[in-house]
Amino acid sequence: MTEANDALWGGRFATGPADAMAALSKSTHFDWRLAKYDLQGSAAHLKALAKAQVISEEERDVLLKAIDELAKRIDNGMFRFKPEDEDVHSALERGLIEIAGSEAGGKIRAGRSRNDQIATLIRMFALDASRAVEEQLLAYLDALCGKAEEYMGLAMAGRTHFQHAQPILLSHHLLAHAWPQVRNLQRLEDLRKRLKKSPYGSAALAGNTYGLDAQLVAEELGFSEPTENSIDATASRDLVAEFNFVLSMVSIDLSRLAEEIIIWATAEFDYVKLSDQYSTGSSIMPQKKHPDVVELARGKSGRIVGNLAGLLTTLKGLPLGYNRDLQEDKEAIFDSFDTLMLVLPAFTGMVATLEFNRSRLQDLSVAGFSLATDVADFVVRQGVPFKEAHEIVGKLVAFCEENGLELDELTREQYESISRHLKPELREVVNLSAAIESRNSAGGTSSKQVIEQMVKLRKLTGKVKR
Ligand code: ARG
Repeated sequence: MTEANDALWGGRFATGPADAMAALSKSTHFDWRLAKYDLQGSAAHLKALAKAQVISEEERDVLLKAIDELAKRIDNGMFRFKPEDEDVHSALERGLIEIAGSEAGGKIRAGRSRNDQIATLIRMFALDASRAVEEQLLAYLDALCGKAEEYMGLAMAGRTHFQHAQPILLSHHLLAHAWPQVRNLQRLEDLRKRLKKSPYGSAALAGNTYGLDAQLVAEELGFSEPTENSIDATASRDLVAEFNFVLSMVSIDLSRLAEEIIIWATAEFDYVKLSDQYSTGSSIMPQKKHPDVVELARGKSGRIVGNLAGLLTTLKGLPLGYNRDLQEDKEAIFDSFDTLMLVLPAFTGMVATLEFNRSRLQDLSVAGFSLATDVADFVVRQGVPFKEAHEIVGKLVAFCEENGLELDELTREQYESISRHLKPELREVVNLSAAIESRNSAGGTSSKQVIEQMVKLRKLTGKVKR
C-alpha cells in the first residue's frame, strides 16, 4: 500500500490504494496508446480555458509550450509512464507539472474530467483507425479486382448449397467477395459522421461551469461539432461497439473467401495454388504446403467477433452516466484493430499472388449437370410452361445419371423418348458460353455485366471520403 495518495483524486483519502486495488484500476499499460490524443485534447482545452478567461493568455502559452516539450520527451523516450501512474491522463498531468510547475500545471484540470477526456480520445482513435483500415481494404479490393481482370472470361462452377448449380465467371465470383467489403467501407464512412462529435467539456457528466467554447475544442481536435448531451457523451460506447462490428464484418467477409481458398487448394479441388510467400510447410511432412494465411484470417475473425461480444455484454444493463466498466472498451477495440491490421496486408498479398488452374476450373464448370436450367429454358422457349419443362429436364438428368451420359450426349431417339420438346438442336444452343453470356440481367454473370460491375467497383474504390 502506498503512503500518500498521488492520484488525481487523492484529497479525501487518508492512504493510497491497496496494491491489489491499484493493479485492478490501472489502465496505463493499454491507454498510454492514446497519449498523443490526450495531449491534443489538453492543448485544445487550454485554448478554451484562456478564451473563457479561466487562465491568462500567458499561462495558456506556457502550458502549450510545456505540452510540446512533453510530446518531444515522449517521442525521444525521456518521459515514460511510471508504475504508479493510474492511467494515461494521470501520467500526462504529472509530466506537464514536471515541466510547467504545479502552479500553472495544476490549472489545466478545470472544467474537464477523465470521463469526457477518455470519451473524446477513443473517438479520435477510432477516426484514425477507421482510415487505416480503409486504406488496407482499398488495397485488398485492388488485389481482388486485379485477379478478376486477370482471369476475365474464365468459367467456373457456380454453387448453391455448395453443390454445382450454374456455370459462372470466376471474375463474377471474386467480385462477389468485393461488394461486401465496399459496404464495409461505406459503413466506416458513415460511422465517421457519428464519431466526429466532441464530448470534451461534458466534464464528469453534467457539463462544465466555465462557459468553455466546445465548438472551438471540437474543431481543434478535428471534430465537426460538440456532442448534444453530456451524459450520453460520457456514458455511451455504442460507437466503439459499432466500429468493432465493422471490423468484425470485414473479418467475417474475409473468412468466407478464406474458407473457399482452403477448399480450392486441396488435391480434390485443385483450383488454386498459393504462392510460396503466402504458405507455410509442415515440420514432419516434407510434401506439405499449408494455406496458413487463410486459416489465420478465418481464425482471427473469431477473436475479433469475441471482442465485439465482450464489449456488448459489458454495455448491457449499464445505468447512466459514466461507469468504470466502460474502461473495458479499449483493450477490445485495440485488439480487434491490431488483429485486422495484421490480417489484411497478408490477405491482400495472398490474393494478389493466387494462381488459378484455368483448365481445371473450365473443365469442372459444367460438371454436375449445371446446364440443366439452360435446357429447361430451351424447352420453355417452345411455349412449354416452366413447371413442365422442369419436370422434363429432371427426367433427362435422371436418364443421364443412369446411363453415365452428359446432357448433350443423347441420341435423337433417346431425347424423344423422354420428351418431344428435347429437340437435338439443344446440343448447339445449350453450352457453357451461352449459359454464361445469356445471363445478362443486371448483376448477372455475362461478361458484359461483369465488366460493368468491375468498372463501377473501380470507380467506387477510387474515391472514398476521408
Ligand atoms: N480509464 C477510464 C476509462 O477508460 C477513464 C477514467 C475515468 N476514471 C474515473 N475514475 N472516472 O474509461
